[in-house]
Amino acid sequence: MTIALGVLVSGSGSNLQAVIDAVRAGNLDADIRIVVSNRPEARGLDRAREAGIPTACVRHADFPVREDFDREVVRLLREAGVEWVALAGFMRILTPEFLAPWAGRVVNIHPALLPACPGLHAQRQQAGHGVRLAGCTVHFVDEEMDHGPIIIQAAVPAFADDDEASLGARILEMEHRIYPQALQWIAQGRVRVDGRQVVVDDVGREGAGPFWTNPPLEPPFDR
Ligand code: GRF
Repeated sequence: MTIALGVLVSGSGSNLQAVIDAVRAGNLDADIRIVVSNRPEARGLDRAREAGIPTACVRHADFPVREDFDREVVRLLREAGVEWVALAGFMRILTPEFLAPWAGRVVNIHPALLPACPGLHAQRQQAGHGVRLAGCTVHFVDEEMDHGPIIIQAAVPAFADDDEASLGARILEMEHRIYPQALQWIAQGRVRVDGRQVVVDDVGREGAGPFWTNPPLEPPFDR
């Protein structure tokens, strides 16, 4: 099945690019109907234009009432025939006004292993905290920020000499892999939500572990 996707961006749009590339490569059965940004200068809009995808900009400053902004974005997405919405670096909190029409069909990517480090500057939070395993999460969006049921996470090592930028780059590489993957599972109709648990039909457990530590365990603790 091909899903009609709308993507919301505020910035660079490298995750949008990963989604565009996956569609082009035939690895993601999605039709990106529209890319919407709240910032006219978002590089993500250029990426969409370069790919021949319709774009729209809804400047949040023009909408003093948050719900009015959301209603306008909903209108544009509806007009474009969007069934699923992917937030890709979209820096606005969405109200129920937005979420109701797409209940359970809005996903987001966050650059941390949620529920650790929600909110802004997750890469800085992780580097500053000295975590050993950092990562990223694709999750369903609910009314709380960075909170909905988790579809996939990837862990990457964080080192003592990492800063926000070096750790962020390592995380971003994995973001670009897990977001198209999560969307493809959705397109294949393999994703079900059961309370907080997301079940992906027919996924294996091989390659998932059994566990991964950083630094690596040394003998005799490594088995
Ligand atoms: C990513 O780190 C994403 O996880 C977060 O915002 C950043 C967006 O990057 N939500 P890009 O615009 O996709 O390059």
